[in-house]
Amino acid sequence: KWVPITLLLSFADAQPTDAEREVWEQVDVVLKDAKAVLDELQAYKGAGQEIREAIQNPNDEVLQEQAWAAVVPLVGKLKKFYQFSQRLEAALHSLLGALTSETYNDPTQHLEREQALAKQFAEILHFTLRFDELKMTNPAIQNDFSYYRRTLSRMRINNVPADGENEVNNELANRISLFYADATPMLKALSDGTTKFVSENKNLPIENTTDCLSTMASVCKVMLETPEYRSRFTSEETVSFCLRVMVGVIILYDYVHPVGAFAKSSKIDMKGCIKVLKDQPPNSVEGLLNALR
Ligand SMILES: *[C@@H]1O[C@H](CO)[C@@H](O)[C@H](O)[C@H]1NC(C)=O
Repeated sequence: KWVPITLLLSFADAQPTDAEREVWEQVDVVLKDAKAVLDELQAYKGAGQEIREAIQNPNDEVLQEQAWAAVVPLVGKLKKFYQFSQRLEAALHSLLGALTSETYNDPTQHLEREQALAKQFAEILHFTLRFDELKMTNPAIQNDFSYYRRTLSRMRINNVPADGENEVNNELANRISLFYADATPMLKALSDGTTKFVSENKNLPIENTTDCLSTMASVCKVMLETPEYRSRFTSEETVSFCLRVMVGVIILYDYVHPVGAFAKSSKIDMKGCIKVLKDQPPNSVEGLLNALR
């Protein structure tokens, strides 16, 4: 599949044109917070120790209080991450709207003329896969949250007022709990967002959205497999950026498209994409191959 060279080269530092600016600025505000979310998640330690001690010594009030004091601020973080997933979903919604609008009539043209938006789309996917990788390797998250819920309901029964700002009402707690129960919660949020975008835009054939995704996948694939382009990548970070974006769009495509990414009729060259992944140093892509499985 043909990919315009300017698109390949612009991935690094695309600046928004006037036509892109409104959506770009909206999304930029969200992306600016993404780094902080990743840093916080990476540093997330969990209250496993305190929880264990509290559970092992149910009659020790001091230990109960210590566990609660450790868990409440963590739940505040988990709530913040969850709320961020909703902002990200909204940002993706705006980007899909722009990248599939009738302004241009094919997805390659869209991506070529809206390179800064394409770049933001890529950044969202990159963030998403990174978030899910970190979440997957941190079992403390679900443990902390379920301890919080159990303890909270016990406190409610005993009529003890709970902490204010970090408190999570029951309905929100259910949604947060569902969010973290998923193996890849951020990707799930994006997939749901994409599905919602497709179903809200009844006049827009589903292909127009999935073509945007498959074009993104082929941009990444061509960049990674063509030595001439690849040699322009100044850091390994750019390589892993492209790899994550490629896998992210494949998964979204698979989720949204009625026959999926792995079907014969798929517009994504899955064989080619998997080959690109397998050609990387093995330890660097295991998580991504697992995500595809
Ligand atoms: C959907 O895509 C086709 C082909 O790329 C294009 O001709 C058509 O205008 C698009 N439809 C909408 C509603 O944008």
